[in-house]
Order: sequence, then structure tokens, then C-alpha cells
Amino acid sequence: MRDYIKLDQEKYAALARQAAAEGCVLLKNDKATLPVRKGESIALFGRSMFHYYKSGLGSGGLVNTRYTIGLLDALKEHDEISTNESVLDAYENWLIDNPYDEGQGWGKVPWSQAEMPLHEELVRKAAEESDLALIVIGRTGGEDQDSKDEAGSYRLTELEEQMIATVCRYFPRSVVILNTGNIIDMSWLEKSDPSAVLAAWQGGQEGGHGVVDILTGDINPCGRLTDTIALKADDYPSTKNFGDLKTNIYEEDIYVGYRYFETFAKEKVLYPFGFGLSYTDFTIEAELTAIKSESISVEATIINRGYSAGKEIVQVYSEAPQGKLGKPVRVLVAYGKTEVLKPGESASITLDIPKTRLASYDDSGVTGSKSSFILEAGRYNIYAGSDVRQALKVGSFEQDFTVIETLEEACAPVTFFNRLKPVQREEGFFAEGRQPVPLRTVDLQKRIDDRSPEEIAFTGDRGISFGEVYEGKTSLDDFIAQLSDEEMACLTRGEGMSSPKATPGVAAAFGGLTDSLADRGIPVGCCADGPSGIRMDCGTKAFSLPNGTALGCTFNDDLVRDLFVMLGRELRKNRIETILGPGINIHRNPLNGRNFEYISEDPLLTGKIAAAQLLGMAESNVTGTIKHFVANNQEAGRSSSDSVVSERALREIYLKGFEIAVKEGGAYSVMTTYGALNGIWTAGNYDLCTTVLRDQWGFHGIAMTDWWAQMNFEGEEPSRNNTAAMIRAQNDLYMCVGDSATNAGNDNTLEMLEKGVLKRAHLQRSARNILKFLLGSLAMEHKSGRISDQELKEMKADEDQVADRENLTFYRINAEGTDIDGSSMNTSGGSEELFGITVRTFGMYDLKVRYKSDLNVLAQVSVSVFMDNQLIGTLALQGTEGEWKEQTLHMGMIFGTNHFIKLFFPQTGLDLESLTFKLEREFNPLG
Ligand code: BGC
Repeated sequence: MRDYIKLDQEKYAALARQAAAEGCVLLKNDKATLPVRKGESIALFGRSMFHYYKSGLGSGGLVNTRYTIGLLDALKEHDEISTNESVLDAYENWLIDNPYDEGQGWGKVPWSQAEMPLHEELVRKAAEESDLALIVIGRTGGEDQDSKDEAGSYRLTELEEQMIATVCRYFPRSVVILNTGNIIDMSWLEKSDPSAVLAAWQGGQEGGHGVVDILTGDINPCGRLTDTIALKADDYPSTKNFGDLKTNIYEEDIYVGYRYFETFAKEKVLYPFGFGLSYTDFTIEAELTAIKSESISVEATIINRGYSAGKEIVQVYSEAPQGKLGKPVRVLVAYGKTEVLKPGESASITLDIPKTRLASYDDSGVTGSKSSFILEAGRYNIYAGSDVRQALKVGSFEQDFTVIETLEEACAPVTFFNRLKPVQREEGFFAEGRQPVPLRTVDLQKRIDDRSPEEIAFTGDRGISFGEVYEGKTSLDDFIAQLSDEEMACLTRGEGMSSPKATPGVAAAFGGLTDSLADRGIPVGCCADGPSGIRMDCGTKAFSLPNGTALGCTFNDDLVRDLFVMLGRELRKNRIETILGPGINIHRNPLNGRNFEYISEDPLLTGKIAAAQLLGMAESNVTGTIKHFVANNQEAGRSSSDSVVSERALREIYLKGFEIAVKEGGAYSVMTTYGALNGIWTAGNYDLCTTVLRDQWGFHGIAMTDWWAQMNFEGEEPSRNNTAAMIRAQNDLYMCVGDSATNAGNDNTLEMLEKGVLKRAHLQRSARNILKFLLGSLAMEHKSGRISDQELKEMKADEDQVADRENLTFYRINAEGTDIDGSSMNTSGGSEELFGITVRTFGMYDLKVRYKSDLNVLAQVSVSVFMDNQLIGTLALQGTEGEWKEQTLHMGMIFGTNHFIKLFFPQTGLDLESLTFKLEREFNPLG
């Protein structure tokens, strides 16, 4: 039994606040505009001041928080700063007629909100009254939709630009705060020239506090850009191929972000990778101190030469010889952050860097070592400094040709294209050349056939329970030998969303979902979105964290780890085995709608920050599911588009973060993408899920699909039913179906088994992966009674927050209409009723409510109906003087099997007899 450590909400909030602050990147600070001095008055502009974006939208943002501290809240809390009330009043009045536009929902939410036109007079007066101006620009992001290089999306709107320009004209000290998911177009900067700019990203529920800590100098800015900010979206080499619904050619190859700009187009950079200012001045003196056969060391001394205390980050880059492969002129190979240094104080950091980080992958064989990570012969220059541009040469060494690791070709493209390669014109100057991409040379089908797993001889039931395996009395394989094909097929089906068999409101349950699997003692595990905190659609409150970009910008693995120790405890408290995150796709292009969830354009930083998260959560025996594996770099056509990528770019860029998360973070749960990689949908991609992930990296966990993903056999069209392709690839769990026992998703597992396309051994292999996960899981700790009484007591103590999974009723909704008894519901003022519905036929539904109230007709006894924590509508009922009446609420589309319905009764006086869900029109968008 493990020691229970209570989740300390205050400590959680303090760490999140620190992370939100350390994630802020100060881009500009002329005339010492910041920090705000004690006693100063601030005029606040921009409607986003009133709508702080704590995160983006979609699965990565749906955390129900107890509170959110936006910027305005945090400023108002601060005693030593005052805000200009007349400007605030002007906004408040304007917002009455210009409320927040929610758009049409999932995938159709506006990325920005209309800005208030500013009257010069208001600004002029404010400038007389206040010492400085803060102007907030807000942008959200989300699923199923990318940003566009247009006003209101990646670019500012005319009104936003005018607002900045007007305010800057009147205020000598004006700070633009970017409350955006990730980087945006900055061309307005030159025109209006604000004196300071702070990229504050989306800082979670403590975000406002974090930003204000930076504004006041309580925390000295110490965040650094995880992406290059170029002059225009078109400057990114991936832009021209971005957004195609069918094929997305990764022509820029490994030259992503700073790897491209520093090599080919330095002049197109506005802010380089790793950039960020401080209120103090640091010097970094670094030296390459050790050159060993497998590693090098850089020692850096950082001195605070300024007037305020703060942290500094040392970044180390390598420059490998161009050799035969061609290389970017800079690759981040290490970073380190100091503690707070007082003025005059110094610190030393030693960074030991394995040479693997300097290696390149030869996917063509041109160096004589195909499919290997190698160091080409020649001189390696090492640079260190405060960003990729500032980093100075600190040493170099001569290296012989060395093979670091020999792998075997995997996931290579089958579609021809020419990829980018540097052509040296003169010393230090490279032009963009092209080189044919090496195509796949292996017979994939033969590889799959040759590597068919060994079958465990079927024994039928021998009465071995899962508990006996857990206790070490017998082997897992002996247990698996008993499982029928049908049972194993069920095991590979996750149930969701909001399965009644797991913690209410989570994304999916898996494991012992059917009677027969449960009878064998297999527990039910579950997973919840992620990554910005725990999403529970029934309304359970959870903690909302700073977004992926913000966490990356801290460059602080220790802080991220400490924060995720807290998330681990929160997962444990809510009985959730894995959160669906971190999202670790690479910021290949700034227009990707989900960049806010992801960390960086650099794979080392991405992998390190992800590993820190996983190590933090592991302390509570829970984990993260690293996603989306791999190359999920645009939202447009995310289910249909094929990412055509060289094996080298995969190995060095897109897979690298995942590899670090597996090898250094101990990841044991991974989610594939919706789309295809080099012609094979990742959910059924053998080389990805088996050759690379397991055989080459030694991953021992579960792989799952993204929700309702498609799979294909190479050359065939993808479909949601082709679980045979999934299982053969060793992607273990199909996410997700309404009911695992009845094969509600109509998958082809058993049919293909009968036809011999799939073998029992394949099923046994996935069953083993899933069961192994469960054996070590929190779910098994519960099942085997190994949770301490103290922990169980603490879980119960928070019952008002954590919906009671044992006692929650689920009603099965038939197409003909199902009556739910309302007579025993507690309808007193302020109370809530929560129950689940299981819907078999998807379509448009009505909810008929039969009610009475003994009050007279002027009495208001409304009831609000929420589905999955979204308000569907309020039935504005009135007193009926005792007479039974009916009213109908249009529920709209009900899609997905399980949902939570919450009724909220604001006033006392309503009696319910029944609630009837009635199908009006059948419709299944998945066909
Ligand atoms: C997203 C995943 C998410 C899943 C479950 C999908 O739409 O792509 O990232 O975890 O839904 O909500």
C-alpha cells in the first residue's frame, strides 16, 4: 500500500502561478516601461481584459474550474496598483451590447472577438490620468480548425491595430499583452511601436496572477520563446503546403523553425528561438570543458550584472559539419535554468550532453550507414548563450565518422518529392537546394508477416483470476491463455465518452468492461482529456493548467515536474489512470489550430518538458498519454490528410519528442492521430506502433487510437471498422465505442480473425499490453483493496466535487422515448440532479417535462438543463396551482452513447413527474 499524499490545492495554485509567470516571454521593454511601479495607475484596453483565455478550446481546454483568475481580476487584487475606472466603465458599457460571441460550437468557434472602437478622447483623457496603458490582445485555438493568415485569426483586425496605434500615440508607456495560444503575426509592431510587449500565452486558472507577477516585477521575466517569430506567416517554409486536405508534403524536411531560419533566412526573423528579456542584465560565460567519446560538457557561469533578482536560461547549440547529409547551422542540444540570482550573484551550470543529440539520421545510405544515427566526420562547433542568435561559440572539436545507433528503416515515404537541403555558397551562407527524398525500400507486408507474434496456446477457463496474476501466483500469459477471442476483442474496445463504468464525464474507459472480463477480475481503467487539466464533462471541477506553449517557455523542467506531481495527485483523487496529454506535436507551422496544446518547434525541448510531466505524474502511479503519434500538424482534414514526410525528418524532428518522452519520461501510454503517415493511417500503422515505438524504443505500454479514428490496410481506403489493421499494427485500444460487449462500433476484429487476416496471437499481444497496463495501475490498486483508508476518506471528503461513480444512475434511451421518473428528484432551490443517459440511436432529441407547481401563475419555477455540462436551455416554467402540465425542450443533436444530464433548480416550488427523451429525427454523422 502506498503512502497517501493529500492534494494541496494551495500549493497546486502556487506552482501553476509560478509556471504561468515563468512561461511569459518579455519581447520588448523600451524606456524601462515595465515593471509597473508601486502606486502607479494603469489604463486597460482591449476586450480580452474581460475574457481571459485560460486555454484554447476543444478537448484540450474543457476543464471545469472552481475559479479562473484573469488579468483584470489579478490587477484588481493588487493593492499597490490602481486601474483607470473611466476606461473600464467604457468597456463594461460597450460589452452589454457586444457580448462574447460563442460561435456555433466545436470546430466553429471564432478565434477572436470584435474589438471596441476607441474614441480618441477617451484615450487622451486616460493618458492624462494614468501612468501607463496595458492593451490585451486575445486569441483562442482549438480542434478541427486552423488559424488563417487573416485579420481576426493569425493577424490583428483593423480595430485591434487601431486600438494599439491610438493608445501608443497618447501613452509613452504602453504594454501589449498577448493572451494567445501561441505566436501570432507581429507586423503591427513596427507601425504602432508600443514600448513593451509581453507574450503571456494562456496561463490556466492562475494565469492572471502569473502575468501580474511579471508586470509588477514580483517575478522577473524568465520565459523564452519556444518558436521563432518570423516577419510573416509565409516566411515559414511549411506554409505553402499547409492546409491541404489530402496530402501534406513536408518539403522543408528537418528545417523546421530556427533550423530553417538560422540556416537560410536570418533576415526574416523578428524574434529568434529562445529569445526573451529580463528586467535585469545577465552575462553568460561558457566553455566547452570536456569532449569524451560519447558526450561533451559545457560549463556556464551566469552573472547577474543588473539591479534586480532573476533567473536566466543558458541554451547550448551545436553546428555539425555539412558532410554528405547537410545540416542546420544550429540544433539545440541542452539548456539549463538558474535559480533566482540576486544582483551581483553568479551561478554555474554544467551541462553534460550526450553526442546522440548532435547526431543526424541517414535515411538514404549516402554516408555508408543507412538507417542509422551518425556523426559525420569534421569539426563540430558548440555555441552557448541566451537565445539561438546570441549564443556564441564556446568551443569546437574534431569528430571522426561515428555510428551512434543503427536502426532499421521504418515509416519511410512512398510518395516522391524533393526535399530541402542546404547548398553552401560561401562561408556561413547557404542557399536552398533540393534533393530527392529517399523512398521506402522495405516490403512492409513481408515484415508484418515475418514478425507475427507467437500464439499462446488456448487453454480455456482454468479458473485463474487476474488478482492471482497481480499477486504473482501465476503468469500473465497463463491468464491470457484462458481468454476467448470474443473476450479479447472486447478488451480492445474502449467505451466512451462518459462511460458509466468509470469516473463520470471522462473520455473513455477500458479493461474489464464486459461481465465476463469483470468476472475474471480485470479492473476498469479510464482516461480523461488533457492536456490542460482534467476534463470531466459531468461538471466535476478540476485544475486548469497553463497551456503547452506556456509550459515550454518556462524552459524549467523541475518546475513543470513539480506542477505535474500535483496533477498526478489530482488524477489519483479522481480515479483516472491517464490524462490524454501532453500534446507533443511539433509547432511545424504557426497556423496549426492546436499549437496552443503543443510545446515547441524544437523536439528536444518538447521531449524534455513532456518527460518532466510524466515523471511528475508517475509519483502518484498515474500517467499521461503522449499524443498525437505522429505528425498531427494541422487540423484541416485531420482525418483525411496524408503527411508525406522523410524518414530523416521523422527521426530527427517529429518522432524525437516522443522518443525522449518514452526513454527519459518512461511514457507507457500513447495516442495515435486521425490522419495518415506516408499512406498508412497511424491508427493502423505497423512500423509506427511496433517497429519504432516498441522494437526500437523499448516502449512497454498501451497504444490507443484518437477518438473514432480510421484505419486502413496499405493501399485501401480507411474506415472506422477496420480494427484488424489496428490490432495487427499493435495499436491496442479502439477509442471509442458505446458498448464494448455488443460491438457497437461494428468492428471487423472477429470477422478478420475468422478470415485469417488477423491471428489470435495479434489479439493476445494487445490483450497483454492492456492487461499489463492495468496490472500496474491505480485501478488495480483499488480493485485489490490497496488504497489506504486515509486516501479513501480524502476522496469521499470531496464528494461534492467528485461525482459518485457507484451511485450515479444511467438511463437507457430508446428511440420510442424513455420515461425517467422525476418524482423523487430534489427540486428545492439551488439543488442539482445529475444522471446519465445511454443513447443507442443518434439524432435530434426533445425532452418532454411533466411538472406541476402548487404556486400561482406568477411564480417562476424554471429548470435549467445541461448536457455534459453545457447549458442546453432553461424551461421557464410558472406556477400551475397544482395542475400537471407538460413542456418540451429541444435538446438538439445527441451524438455519442453516454451523456450526463444535469438539472438545476434555481427556485423551490417545482414538482416533477417525469422526463421523456424522444427521438425526433435519426442522424448519425459518422454514417
Ligand atoms: C482529440 C484528442 C482527444 C480526444 C478525446 C479528439 O478529438 O484529437 O486529442 O484526446 O478527442 O477527447
